[in-house]
Amino acid sequence: MNEKPILRVLAGNDVWPPPVWLMRQAGRYLPEYRAIKDSSGGFIARCTNPDLATEITLQPIRRFGMDAAILFSDILILPWALGQDVVFKDGVGPILAPIRDAAGVDALSASRVPEATAPVLETIRRLRRELPAACTLIGFCGAPFTVACYMVEGGGSRDFAETRAMAYGNPELFGRLMDMLVRTTTDYLSAQIVAGAEAVMLFDTWAGMLSPSQFVRHVIGPAAAIVEALNARHPGVPVIGFPRLAGMYVGHYAERTGVDCVALDTGTDPARAVAGLPDSVAVQGNLDPIALLAGGDAMRSEISSIVGALRGRPHIFNLGHGILPQTNPDHVAELVEFLRNR
Ligand code: CP3
Repeated sequence: MNEKPILRVLAGNDVWPPPVWLMRQAGRYLPEYRAIKDSSGGFIARCTNPDLATEITLQPIRRFGMDAAILFSDILILPWALGQDVVFKDGVGPILAPIRDAAGVDALSASRVPEATAPVLETIRRLRRELPAACTLIGFCGAPFTVACYMVEGGGSRDFAETRAMAYGNPELFGRLMDMLVRTTTDYLSAQIVAGAEAVMLFDTWAGMLSPSQFVRHVIGPAAAIVEALNARHPGVPVIGFPRLAGMYVGHYAERTGVDCVALDTGTDPARAVAGLPDSVAVQGNLDPIALLAGGDAMRSEISSIVGALRGRPHIFNLGHGILPQTNPDHVAELVEFLRNR
């Protein structure tokens, strides 16, 4: 049997207390990350420098002893590797040269991806040598719909209206972009697995904005295709799906995509979500990042109700969305301590 608690859960076993890692566990809430950030140029430079990316990935492992390390990278590394202009502006977020027509899609080049992402794969190889024996290394990509949102819109947005209008109004063009993302995401995740990622996660942050029919087409379809291809190439390597804000469709998503684990967002009631899930599907989540920010008894009470609701099932403790930069790292230490001393 595999000794790593996270891999045991992902294989469908119930482990008590549940192993833990946190989305965005490497990042600005850690003073040791801010120290590197202030002296290391831009965000993409940090992601593509194996010395820095390895060190940043290890920071939360050293400090808190998390059960998994998530590669320090970003979902927008793929559009950047495809040749789209991407910059991360402090205090603003990502800014991309928006893709609105056929010429924009045609300018992307899948053949650039292996070379552009080679430093990320080197980071993964180094991490596998340096991580503690019980710690699982998780690779990731954005899911095609969420990545397309940033590629078409040109950055963050309240409603991603341009993207969703393209999906309805020019399904042929949007379909070409999505097909390219399905292919390149599959190949990039596969390369991460070959380099040493032991599980991979698909972040579909904006999945919940779609109508039911568009959700089936642009969330379930692409995730199912990626999972099927990865299972064929790398049998036994688990896939975690995060269809954020998918609400009542979480069970449907898990069954139709074939993911090994579904990550629940903050607003999802874990007991209700698992009621419709096959026993073999693991669940990840789903403490409110604001409860972590608040800390104390309120946080402990939320943790207790989540682990209580999922007791007896394969469960990886996590947040319902990423850690906020203003979070006190001591609260993260308290979370891990409280979880492990049950
Ligand atoms: O610790 C980890 O979880 C690993 C690294 C990671 C980052 N981004 C680092 C990052 C992961 C898994 C992501 C995923 C990601 N990136 C998502 C999906 C998950 C989610 O939070 O919804 C999305 C939508 C993005 C796109 C993105 N990257 C945005 C919108 C922003 C700007 C907002 C912000 O938090 O600054 C980023 C920047 C980013 N990605 C930072 C980090 C540490 C901050 C920039 C910096 O430190 O210079």
